[in-house]
Amino acid sequence: MTTIAQSTVPLAVNSRDAAPEEVVRFENVGLRYGLGPEVLQDVTFSLPAGSFHFLVGPSGAGKSSLLKLMYLALAPTRGLITLFGRDIATTPRRALPALRRRIGVVFQEFRLLSHLSTFDNVALPLRVAGNREEEVRRHVTELLGWVGLRDHMHARPPTLSGGQQQRIAIARAVIARPRLLLADEPTGNIDDRLAMRLMHLFVELNKLGTTVVVATHNESMVERMGFPVLRLDADPDELGVRVTRRPSMATPEDEAARIADAFEVPAGSRPKRA
Ligand SMILES: Nc1ncnc2c1ncn2[C@@H]1O[C@H](COP(=O)(O)OP(=O)(O)OP(=O)(O)O)[C@@H](O)[C@H]1O
Ligand SMILES: [Mg+2]
Repeated sequence: MTTIAQSTVPLAVNSRDAAPEEVVRFENVGLRYGLGPEVLQDVTFSLPAGSFHFLVGPSGAGKSSLLKLMYLALAPTRGLITLFGRDIATTPRRALPALRRRIGVVFQEFRLLSHLSTFDNVALPLRVAGNREEEVRRHVTELLGWVGLRDHMHARPPTLSGGQQQRIAIARAVIARPRLLLADEPTGNIDDRLAMRLMHLFVELNKLGTTVVVATHNESMVERMGFPVLRLDADPDELGVRVTRRPSMATPEDEAARIADAFEVPAGSRPKRA
């Protein structure tokens, strides 16, 4: 397997403001879906800029829900969330898309745009950020090569395997070097060897300054990599996440409509076909 040195990581470099010291802060955050019970209770933690955390906990513990709060797809029912130093509750709605664009997300269910090619899915964040097409082409081609998808650049996601789609989702999340990367079970469909290669991409991104949170069930990967762990369960963990989970009978709602929201693609900068 190829290992990568920091200088060879094929990630686009964007200019950015000085990073705040604390990228995320949750204080006594609670979340309920509709009129259901609270699925997250009294969640308190903070993520220093440049940190790397795993987020673990049993299925249904609320890992995806916690990440959704962090990427602003959901608002908490109670408590305080600050993102990049801003209190989300008092941040005007019009300012939220700009905050979201600083966040790269690998969705548990990928959420690729099925009418676009692999190339265009990955190019999306760079195009939205206004990069020149020549630069977009260079970065996307390089990164797709790195994740082993160069031969599938023109394929549409529905024609690819689960692991291939997951790699597109990962490439799309990291391509623009977000300040905060939230990955929800990003290696669930990929063999261990490839999983470690992709985790190295996250590690290299982290070395370049991105704050990273990876939700995973893969305990051996967590152990092997040795990063601090945010644990969602009944007991407070060493980092102060404190969650009491109550059983919920609610079924997850369809969140496909949030894709466009997550990427906030302005009408004028819709991607062209590769
Ligand atoms: N859209 C939704 N509407 C209602 N309840 C929801 C919704 N999404 C999640 N839940 C509930 O919230 C709880 C936490 O779900 P979540 O998806 O955050 O767990 P998870 O830790 O990510 O699980 P997994 O490891 O299986 O991905 C569950 O009880 C689930 O039923
Ligand atoms: Mg989940």
